[in-house]
Amino acid sequence: MNYLVTGGAGFVGSHVAQSLLDAGHDVTVLDNLSTGHRAAVPQGADFLEVDLADADATDKAVGTRRWDGVLHFAALSLVGDSMREPFHYLRQNTLTSLNLIQACARHGTQRFVFSSTAALFGGDDRPPPIADNAQIDPGSPYGESKFFIERALVWADRICGLRSACLRYFNAAGADPGGRLGEDHRPETHLIPLTIDAALGRRPPLKLFGDDYATRDGTCVRDYIHVTDLADAHIRALGQLTDRSVTYNLGNGLGFTNLEVIRAVERVSGRKVPWEPAPRRAGDPAVLVADSSRIRKETGWDPQYQDIDIIVATALRWREAHPDGYGS
Ligand code: UFG
Repeated sequence: MNYLVTGGAGFVGSHVAQSLLDAGHDVTVLDNLSTGHRAAVPQGADFLEVDLADADATDKAVGTRRWDGVLHFAALSLVGDSMREPFHYLRQNTLTSLNLIQACARHGTQRFVFSSTAALFGGDDRPPPIADNAQIDPGSPYGESKFFIERALVWADRICGLRSACLRYFNAAGADPGGRLGEDHRPETHLIPLTIDAALGRRPPLKLFGDDYATRDGTCVRDYIHVTDLADAHIRALGQLTDRSVTYNLGNGLGFTNLEVIRAVERVSGRKVPWEPAPRRAGDPAVLVADSSRIRKETGWDPQYQDIDIIVATALRWREAHPDGYGS
């Protein structure tokens, strides 16, 4: 089958593109390389350098082939940045996605997978785990932008027959177990790569944002899901899109505090992680843990890399082998 993967030069998009290639499909990556890396586009994928903000170029790219599915990852994705630049986030994520969705509808694409987020649930702290039908209450403009796109997809289904899967990831982490791909954000803001780099002495001590949350050790709890398990969920979700649209929460259902992540990095690397306490980061909910029972039940999805030490080990292996990430 032919798949178009927007944002396929980024962390999750590149791993999903790789899994589609591994399953024998043809993959075209579309990316403007604003945050992604050309070197992250998996070998064997075609590449289109297109900015989704350009509606005409987007329409032309979508019209080049008949796609068996379009998978949409390209987005600004940092909760903290969106609190500083709310209108930029809201404008960028919604307009680029609308350009893409409209082009898909115009060219008769049948199946669309959308990279949504647990940040939809970020507003009020609530008892975990969070199910797919939990009340939406974004705690940041980033989460709000993703919710708007989920709603646009509801109308694209009702009016244009575009079936979609909205996959709300909790914390994507780890790296390709085969060592082909990894995580390289610039700037890096995610806990696991920063903690690994601090352990390796490549960065200053980790700043631990907030130690007075109502959790077992005062630090935030997150549900880390291996990026290869996420990729598998995308392929399974595509299989559901014959006559309906679906929405799934995607996590392991296991929460780890930030301090527990630090300890996992210490165990796996055999090194001390230098860290220091810092104030809370705006927009951070105390606890985000997924109830993913629906995707498990409906697709048979069964994550293989749930152990936090394995998640950290795959990330560590890639960062050790690629001190400069994907290079300059
Ligand atoms: N953290 C630190 N120090 C750092 C970086 C992070 O203490 O230097 C803490 C954060 O405050 C948070 C936890 O580590 O408590 C996880 O933070 P990340 O930045 O790694 O991840 P987030 O939970 O903020 O966000 C990620 C994705 C979002 C997505 C969200 C959904 O980046 O796109 O998961 O759960 F929406």
